[in-house]
Amino acid sequence: MSYPYQLKSFEDYQQAWQHSVTDPEGFWANVADHFYWRRKWDKVLEWDFKTPDVKWFSGARLNITENCLDRHLGTLGNQPAIIWEPNDPEERHRILTYRELYNKVCQFANVLKNNGVKKGDRVCIYMGMIPELAIAVLACARIGAIHSVVFGGFSAQSIADRIQDAQCNLVITCDGAFRGAKDIPLKSVIDDALMACPSVKRVIVCTRTRTPVSMLKGRDVWWEDEIKQVETMGNPPVPAEEMEAEDMLFILYTSGSTGKPKGVVHTCGGYMVYANYTFINSFQYKPGQVYFCTADIGWITGHSYIVYGPLSAGATTLMFEGVPTYPDAGRFWDIVDKFRVNILYTAPTAIRSLMGYGLGPVNHKDLSSLTTLGTVGEPINEEAWHWYKDQIGKGKCPITDTWWQTETGGIMIAPIAGITPEKPGYATLPLPGIQPILVDETGKEIEGNGVNGNLCIKFPWPGMIRTTYGDHERCRTTYFSTYENLYFTGDGCLRDEDGYYRITGRVDDVLNVSGHRIGTAEVENAINMHAGVVESAVVGYPHEIKGQGIYAFVIAEKQVKDPELTRKDIMQTVSRIIGPIAKPDKIQFVSGLPKTRSGKIMRRILRKIAEGEMDNLGDTTTLLDPAVVEEIKTGRL
Ligand code: PRX
Repeated sequence: MSYPYQLKSFEDYQQAWQHSVTDPEGFWANVADHFYWRRKWDKVLEWDFKTPDVKWFSGARLNITENCLDRHLGTLGNQPAIIWEPNDPEERHRILTYRELYNKVCQFANVLKNNGVKKGDRVCIYMGMIPELAIAVLACARIGAIHSVVFGGFSAQSIADRIQDAQCNLVITCDGAFRGAKDIPLKSVIDDALMACPSVKRVIVCTRTRTPVSMLKGRDVWWEDEIKQVETMGNPPVPAEEMEAEDMLFILYTSGSTGKPKGVVHTCGGYMVYANYTFINSFQYKPGQVYFCTADIGWITGHSYIVYGPLSAGATTLMFEGVPTYPDAGRFWDIVDKFRVNILYTAPTAIRSLMGYGLGPVNHKDLSSLTTLGTVGEPINEEAWHWYKDQIGKGKCPITDTWWQTETGGIMIAPIAGITPEKPGYATLPLPGIQPILVDETGKEIEGNGVNGNLCIKFPWPGMIRTTYGDHERCRTTYFSTYENLYFTGDGCLRDEDGYYRITGRVDDVLNVSGHRIGTAEVENAINMHAGVVESAVVGYPHEIKGQGIYAFVIAEKQVKDPELTRKDIMQTVSRIIGPIAKPDKIQFVSGLPKTRSGKIMRRILRKIAEGEMDNLGDTTTLLDPAVVEEIKTGRL
């Protein structure tokens, strides 16, 4: 097997990009022709960024799982689809061939049907990184149910918000999850969440940690018992539900500049084509290679580049349950060594953290199987880029620094590995089909090279967001109203003298902590829930490992007697309300916040203080009480 639309040279790339701009419909129709459709499209693209209304492959009918599973069975039935490495290296790994994965997905699709799930129903999935998570995702897609995967590090409150927003009627979870030295009691978190979620009628619990759980009669059932039942029914085949190209495939919640995460909606046809095309091209995946993406399926990277992209390409995708530093900081390299991994895709945060352990954990690991490296999620600093290149890739592996977002569905700007000349810290050039544009504050295009601006995309691509679940207007105002007729990414960007793109970070109130997107307003809301807090303001500051750290300025109701204890209490509150990933790194108690006369907090000033740029605060004369700035400066942590 080879991929007819895999780019083979830089000229190929340039031609493909040109073709995709002059004839987008022809370009994407050529790619889409290589998938299995029950019915082909009437029209490749219809679009209007004002409403927004974007339709790819309208009239086409398909099921994404037939493309990820059924169509490979003839040729790749015995090839590993998923290699799973457990948290504990002493435990045995698992390998599921395409045939085995297909059988398990069909079995679990039967379980979902037996539990009343129908096409269009929303199913919340809250599991650790075990093969059953991928099986659950694919089983939903097989019967046309819309999955909403929630990352295992989110709190009960966050899950409840997401379940309520999507009105899910079924939850799939595990008793618990192993992550490094910790066990996370997933089912008990779900029990707390469900107190506020009357829409949920059924919970399916998969066994992993054997943590004691309480099973509610009439609501909770065990995954394993349900599978047995399907077996006694003789494993009836599950025909894949025929979906319209524009039917919803999944919802994935992500943070924005408001306090409430939004449900980004992706649809079946366009998302499939885009995840597949970008997987095959950015990483230059070759049939038979072992590909390891270290993300969690709870994030978009896992959806597109552990599950749908690789499986639709008939690839072998490696899923790792644990963390990079358990039992020691050599774990990734052990996995590469053990499974002869060819392509490794990870986050700058992981690289920076592992760099900190020196070369001890890397030495004596056989990394010679590696051909390609990838990074995602945040800007990569040059030092980390070079370490990755030299120490992990031994100078011979190309690095693809992939810029994209939950909303874009797949990689947007990135080198075609080994083909696009790379530059440390640069996502380089747009993939075919992607038309980036830089604009100034007023929306005017900034032309030419050697310029900085806000990054927008001016033409639709198949993997793009279609709506925010249950609130289309929010999708319009968030992404399509800042600049007319453009999709606004929220990122700042430099286009250098060579026309190469370098993402400089968010220009809105969104933080990127260890590659996780967190809204400052969300963290503030959580802090303000703590009894004794009057008001707070949260900003990001440069953090050596996490990229950005969370700095909170907090006004307490009374004089804080034991600041350390109160800090811990506040962290605990944030952990409870959002999840441990949103815990502030620094909490400074202040008596006031810098506000304009109209009462708006001047975050610009707080950001500068948090960054330690105290002499460079800009104009403070419009402040209601300029003295408060001096106090905050003095108390800086
Ligand atoms: O700021 C950009 C940053 O991550 C944001 C998207 O976050 P999320 O939706 O969680 O998706 C992360 C995984 C795709 C972007 O707006 N970002 C992502 N990739 C890069 C990046 N910043 C710089 N370089 C990247 N390669």
